[in-house]
Amino acid sequence: VLEDGAAVTVAAAAGGYPVLVRRGLMAKLGELVADRVGEVRRWAVVSDDVVAPLHGERARASLDGAGLPASLHTFPAGEAHKTRATWAALTDDLLASGLGRDGGVVAVGGGVTGDLAGFVAATYMRGIPVVQVPTSVLAMVDSAIGGKTGVDTPAGKNLVGAFHAPRLVVVDPEAVATLPRRERAQGWCEAVKHGAILDDAYLSRLERDVAALLDGAADAVERAVRRSVELKAEVVGRDEREGGLREILNFGHTLGHALEAASGYALPHGSAVSLGMVLEARLGERLGASEPGTAERLARVLGDLGLPTIPPAGLGAGPVMAALERDKKVREGRVRVVLLERPGVVSGAGGWARPVDRALALDVLAEASREAGFQA
Ligand SMILES: NC(=O)c1ccc[n+]([C@@H]2O[C@H](COP(=O)([O-])OP(=O)(O)OC[C@H]3O[C@@H](n4cnc5c(N)ncnc54)[C@H](O)[C@@H]3O)[C@@H](O)[C@H]2O)c1
Ligand SMILES: [Zn+2]
Repeated sequence: VLEDGAAVTVAAAAGGYPVLVRRGLMAKLGELVADRVGEVRRWAVVSDDVVAPLHGERARASLDGAGLPASLHTFPAGEAHKTRATWAALTDDLLASGLGRDGGVVAVGGGVTGDLAGFVAATYMRGIPVVQVPTSVLAMVDSAIGGKTGVDTPAGKNLVGAFHAPRLVVVDPEAVATLPRRERAQGWCEAVKHGAILDDAYLSRLERDVAALLDGAADAVERAVRRSVELKAEVVGRDEREGGLREILNFGHTLGHALEAASGYALPHGSAVSLGMVLEARLGERLGASEPGTAERLARVLGDLGLPTIPPAGLGAGPVMAALERDKKVREGRVRVVLLERPGVVSGAGGWARPVDRALALDVLAEASREAGFQA
């Protein structure tokens, strides 16, 4: 159905899977699924109620058109609904529809849909195949690849879940046309991360393409998504269960998660990671592990994407450190952070994430807060 060049293969213990990236693939979804997951007799398409009318129904129709009976199941959009309650409601819905062991789930949507529908598939009759069809930039470059699924609980995000590798990932870059601009920027943040840790040339490309990426121009989106998919596939293919190398994907996320939590989740994830990358790069420079100018280079492209590069006034160093401690990211006075040697290269000496003195982290945070106060 598809000529070479569009597929990236992700190695996984349960069998590798292809990630197909090409404009217009949504219309071919039925054919692609029939071709590659032929043993499934019936499909349940899961979308949130924003994406369902935009893309979910089209996906269902494409499956139907290829002779694959498919039903559409929706839930209310938003992270607040990535819960066990929604997992239960969707599961009951599929059971009521008579979906059996020979059924499969197609997740059409952003990261919330992928995580939730993936977890439904992981647990439904002890596990049925899932096909990921990401429609947000974040899901295309990040969450649809790697097989992590799950839900949030009152005790924290993503605390209940399972590894459930998809059988197939179909990425149609044209889907981001309907995504709000600020949501696009949130996703491109993770692409910047991929460039920062693994590929300086890709980072340069992103720098040049900022305007087109924010506009959702299909050719620029396709090029960037494909490169991010290749990079993430390489990392998770080598370390599926996060024992080592996969940790580099946490660049910007130690401080990012702490900022997110300290803001009471008012700060969106991409914005928090944008700040986290700049601050962790500054930490690297202060330690002499990173080339001078690394943090500034990241701050420039992230700023061009409209993402924050200094903490919002009112988000002080104290609450962020407290969040770090709650997250158990501080042990024996040290914080584990992924450091860059320079853009495109992680500092590998002493393991991927390195322990950094709490006092230094606090100092970098306090310095950034002072700048925020100055700017405000
Ligand atoms: N599994 C993983 O490895 C992994 C990695 C990173 C993030 N995540 C998870 O991903 C989630 C965040 O993903 P997200 O940012 O995509 O959130 P999301 O799924 O909530 O999507 C963001 C918003 O955009 C809408 N949307 C999505 N695609 C659209 C489109 N094409 N057109 C119009 N609207 C569209 C959604 O309805 C939603 O309102 C978090 O729950 C996070 O934990 C998982
Ligand atoms: Zn992230």
